[in-house]
Amino acid sequence: MSGTITSLGPSLRRAAPTVPLAQGKYPPGPPNGLFGWRHVGRLRNDLLEFAAELARDYGDCVGYRIGPIRIYQFSHPEQVSEIHVKHTDAFHKPQTVKTYFKRWMRTGLLLNEGSDWQQQRRKVRFAMQQMTTDKLSAAVAAETEHVSAGCRAGEVDVAAATDRLAFGLNVRALLGIEAPAAIDPMHRAANVMHETGIAELESWSPWPDWLPIPSKNRLRRAMRTFDDILLDAARRRETAANTDDLLRQLLVAHDRSLRTAGMTPARARDEAVNLLMGGKETVGATLTFATYLLALHPAIQESAADEVAREIGARPLELGDLPRLVEVTRVVQETMRLYPPVYALTRQVARPVTIAGYRLRRGSLVMVPLNVIHRDPRWWNGPHEFRPERFRDASEKHRPPYVYLPFGAGPRSCVGKQMGHAQCVLVLAGLLRQFRWDLASGQGAPRLKCDIVVHPRDPLRLQFARRA
Ligand code: HEM
Repeated sequence: MSGTITSLGPSLRRAAPTVPLAQGKYPPGPPNGLFGWRHVGRLRNDLLEFAAELARDYGDCVGYRIGPIRIYQFSHPEQVSEIHVKHTDAFHKPQTVKTYFKRWMRTGLLLNEGSDWQQQRRKVRFAMQQMTTDKLSAAVAAETEHVSAGCRAGEVDVAAATDRLAFGLNVRALLGIEAPAAIDPMHRAANVMHETGIAELESWSPWPDWLPIPSKNRLRRAMRTFDDILLDAARRRETAANTDDLLRQLLVAHDRSLRTAGMTPARARDEAVNLLMGGKETVGATLTFATYLLALHPAIQESAADEVAREIGARPLELGDLPRLVEVTRVVQETMRLYPPVYALTRQVARPVTIAGYRLRRGSLVMVPLNVIHRDPRWWNGPHEFRPERFRDASEKHRPPYVYLPFGAGPRSCVGKQMGHAQCVLVLAGLLRQFRWDLASGQGAPRLKCDIVVHPRDPLRLQFARRA
């Protein structure tokens, strides 16, 4: 199973294949010009190419400035380990992201810090481990059915369909039997919150949320919809001992190493918002690019579909099927290598720290570009090619650590990793069983947009046909 892709970004050819030593106070980088304004345009419009060009032209450690802020790009696995494993306490999530997203993420994991984050992280992990496999399998079956109904129409914008599907999966896990009525209003509200946050972040909007203007009115309505549904559901679950969905598990979550157990409804609501937003775009983007890559590689698509027919047949897919879906799993892994949904791990320096021999000052921004590391010819043969078989067990053993990190690295890596991975594999298997697909007429390579997650800038149209 292999195939070639030619137009996925600039090629990375490097002079130095070893860990570079720091030379000088700051790493090399592009000229900043006036206040570094030229970098703002590149970061906003073609961040993936910009990051790849910087790595190609300056190496593993790159430095540049925007106004007073110094930005570092590190793309060697040793440096990933220094930043995300050894010195995690020296870094925070960036303040700008907090300014525009903490309004509804509130105290949840994504933007929380310090000992409170640590304690909540253990509780959320514990709650997720309590989710029974039949509940998750039922959610996948219901949502795949929903998207399959759309695919029967023939031509489909997969990006829109899979975003709604991924959101539905997580609402089902969180709210159980109450989910069907909540999915659509919450999905609409989540889109408004996400799009407003991105637009305001990109324009550095200074306006407060109480301002009575249409965009702020829409945002307040969306936040209220989210809050009302989740807080109300959490309050009802405080006394409903017979419910066993994820929201209930969050309310009663504990850990032997913790002195405190459980969460208030407000904190369970905050964590629920973070789980919904954390899983929405990531799972959606993975499924979007997986279906796109399979449309470009019909032989791989057929081989994966054969596996589903052979191993599962017509019975409902369930979580226990994952070990049997070896080829589908590799397709998902290879998709996340070529198109890591979270394309860069970004942090702000919270206290002075030395990385790769450079002394980083408080307030500096640090980016680890996953698209660069995932296509680095030092770790990957044919880095721009779609070759799912590279994820065979034997080849994985030869790969150094931290060269494949679609779920991040270290203690702040994805708390929904198992669930997200399982959702992607099972949904893709469900689609492969029912349909074969191709690019719709006139559909070329998608132009990409990077906000929190990478996704196609325009609708990505595929033509679905039912398998006989
Ligand atoms: C293909 C699917 C997914 C991918 C590729 C992905 C990727 C990531 C990455 C890279 C991070 C770390 C970000 C950083 O270090 O800055 C992260 C964190 C997180 N993810 Fe995911 N994710 C996926 C699915 C999910 C799902 C399904 C959920 C929830 C059910 C989820 C919830 C979260 C949360 C809450 C965090 C923050 C964890 C913390 O800071 O303690 N993700 N994810």
